[in-house]
Amino acid sequence: MRTQVAIIGAGPSGLLLGQLLHKAGIDNIIVERQSGDYVLGRIRAGVLEQVTTDLMLEVGVGERMLKEGLPHGGFDMLFDGARHRIDLEALTGGKRVTVYGQTEVTRDLMEAREKVGRTTVYEAANVQVLDYDTAKPRVTYEKDGQTHTIECDFIAGCDGFHGVCRASVPRGAIREFEKVYPFGWLGMLADTPPVHHELIYVRSERGFALCSQRSHTRSRYYLQVPLTDKVEAWSDDAFWNELRLRLDPEAAARLVTGPGLEKSIAPLRSFVTEPLRFGRMFLAGDAGHIVPPTGAKGLNLAATDVKYLSTAITEFYQERSEAGIDGYSERCLKRIWRAERFSWWFTGIMHNFPEDGPIVAKLQQAELDYLIHSEHGRRTIAENYVGLPLNFGES
Ligand code: APR
Ligand code: PHB
Repeated sequence: MRTQVAIIGAGPSGLLLGQLLHKAGIDNIIVERQSGDYVLGRIRAGVLEQVTTDLMLEVGVGERMLKEGLPHGGFDMLFDGARHRIDLEALTGGKRVTVYGQTEVTRDLMEAREKVGRTTVYEAANVQVLDYDTAKPRVTYEKDGQTHTIECDFIAGCDGFHGVCRASVPRGAIREFEKVYPFGWLGMLADTPPVHHELIYVRSERGFALCSQRSHTRSRYYLQVPLTDKVEAWSDDAFWNELRLRLDPEAAARLVTGPGLEKSIAPLRSFVTEPLRFGRMFLAGDAGHIVPPTGAKGLNLAATDVKYLSTAITEFYQERSEAGIDGYSERCLKRIWRAERFSWWFTGIMHNFPEDGPIVAKLQQAELDYLIHSEHGRRTIAENYVGLPLNFGES
C-alpha cells in the first residue's frame, strides 16, 4: 500500500488529523492497534475549548456537537467551604467552553471518516515505523496472519502515551520531561442529573473533587485518591459519601446518587517530549505530551497539535515549502508548555499534598483567596481555562 501520510493511532488526534488532511486533498491511512469499539469504550475528559469546537466545525463534524454539547459560560471553584464562580464569558470577552465527551468527539470523527471512505486499519498488531529519517518512510503491521507494508511520505505518531512512535526514536535524539503526582483521580459516571449546571472544582481538606457532566441526565464525578487505592474497594455508596463530604452543604444536599456506570482510577502526570519531529515522523497529542486532567487540556492540546501539523503538511504539498514542517515542533511546544504550566499549577493548588506539611495547604488557601478576590487573578484563570488563542505570543 502507498499513501501520503500514515497516521498511527485512531484516537482523537489521529482521527482529526485524518479529517484535516482529507479536507486538504491529502491521502492518508490510519493504523490502529485496537478495535473501533475498544477505542470508543475509553472514557475521558469532556470540556472542549473554542479552538477545538472550531476545528470540529472546520472538518464538517460539528453537527451533533452543536446540538448535544452544553455551552458553559463559567465554572465554580469551591475552597474553604465557599463556592466562587469564574465567569468565563465576562472575563474573556465572551468565550465559553463546550461540555461534550471525548467519546462523542471520537465517534463523530470515526463516522465522518467512514463516510468519506478513507482507510482505517483496526486491530493492527506489531506496528513498526521505519526509515522516517529518509524521504521514504514505511510502516509495517501484522493482520490476519500477514505482514503488511505502507509506503508513505510522512508518519504521524498519534498513538498516545504508550505508543510505538516515540518509543522508536533513539534515546539520544529525544528529551523527556516528567512529573508524576503522588495521587490519582477516581472517576465515576452515573445516569443522575448533575449536582450543578456548571462544573465545580473542589479543594477540600479531604482532597480534591470535581463535579462534571456529560448531559443534563448524566454526571461525571472525580475524587482525589491515594495511588495505592484499588478501584474494586470503592463501592458506589462509598464514592457518593466521600464526594458529599468534600462538597459545600448546599451542593451536598442537592447531590442525586445512583448506580455507577463505570469507575476507574487514573494516575496524574505532567510529561513533555522534545522535539516532536524526527525527520519525516511527527508526534502529536498524548504521544508527545501528557497533562494532568485538572483543567481538561489534553484533548484540546491534541487538537491544536494536529491543526499545526496538517497546516505544515499541506504547505509541503501545495507550496513545496518545508518551512511548516521545520517549525512544527517549536510552534507546538510553545503552546504545549503553556497548557502544561496551567494544568500543573491548577493541579498543585487544588489537591492535597500531605507529605508537604500543613504550611503548603495554608499557602494554597491564601493563593486561592488572593486570586479569587482579584479581577486579574480571576482573569488569568479564565483565559487559560478557555484556552489561549492559537496565535498567542506570535506577535
Ligand atoms: N500501533 C497502533 N496504534 C496504537 C499503538 C500502536 N503501537 N499504540 C497505541 N495506539 C493507539 C491507541 O490504541 C489509541 O487508540 O493510538 C491511539 C491513541 O489515542 P489516545 O491515547 O486517545 O491519544 P490522542 O489521540 O493523542 O488523544 C489525546 O486523549 O488520552 C486523551 O487526555 C488525552 O484527551 C487527550 C486525548
Ligand atoms: C470530565 O468531564 O471528565 C472532566 C472535566 C473537566 C476536567 C477533567 C475532566 O478538568
